[in-house]
Amino acid sequence: MGLYAERIFPWLMERSDPDELKAERYAAVSDATGEALEIGVGTGANFAHYPSTVTAVTAIEPSRGMNTRARRARAQAAMPVRLVAGNGQSLPFASGSFDTVLALFVLCTIPDPEQTLSETRRVLKPDGSLLFLEHVSAPEPGVRRWQRRIEPVWKRIGCGCHLTRDTESKIADAGFEVTSIDRYWLTKAPRIVGWVIRGSARVAT
Ligand SMILES: C[S@@+](CC[C@H](N)C(=O)[O-])C[C@H]1O[C@@H](n2cnc3c(N)ncnc32)[C@H](O)[C@@H]1O
Repeated sequence: MGLYAERIFPWLMERSDPDELKAERYAAVSDATGEALEIGVGTGANFAHYPSTVTAVTAIEPSRGMNTRARRARAQAAMPVRLVAGNGQSLPFASGSFDTVLALFVLCTIPDPEQTLSETRRVLKPDGSLLFLEHVSAPEPGVRRWQRRIEPVWKRIGCGCHLTRDTESKIADAGFEVTSIDRYWLTKAPRIVGWVIRGSARVAT
């Protein structure tokens, strides 16, 4: 990976976490319990928000630059955090290992979200939960048009981040039952990344 992806983008990510996003992160992880796995942990921006119901966090992230920052952010977690350099599309964990899997602003970026969700289902315990917070394709046709127009450039700036993914459908198609979901606009974000879904899902039976 180049200088931008390994150094500049992680630096930008660490510095662009406004209070509105921190509140979103806090809400998204608040139902996490037990052994948790966070996919595409980035700079570790969520570590500080994990509730005390989580006993340990495993965090997987392929980018060296992100992992360097996540290592530092571990000190903000109230529980042990194990960082694994790896790929969310091929999780190096046994089936049924985790009580909670967290996907925050990662199913927008990961090249194969379907495979990632299939792996997520595999590593979750049968009664485990997937917690998600993702910016997705907007409901308004005008915003969707702009998302489509800007996406090719955005993907370069955001190291693979897509603006037009229908992540809710992907979660359902991967064999999850969505148990709670809120869909809304972030008030302070640009509209192209402002429509988010936050919720939880369990493996469909
Ligand atoms: C927009 S950042 C979000 C980071 C973090 N989840 C957060 O809430 O701030 C997307 C992250 O997905 C990671 N990513 C990209 N491809 C991935 C993959 N194949 N497996 C796991 N993570 C990946 C990127 O390196 C980056 O850290």
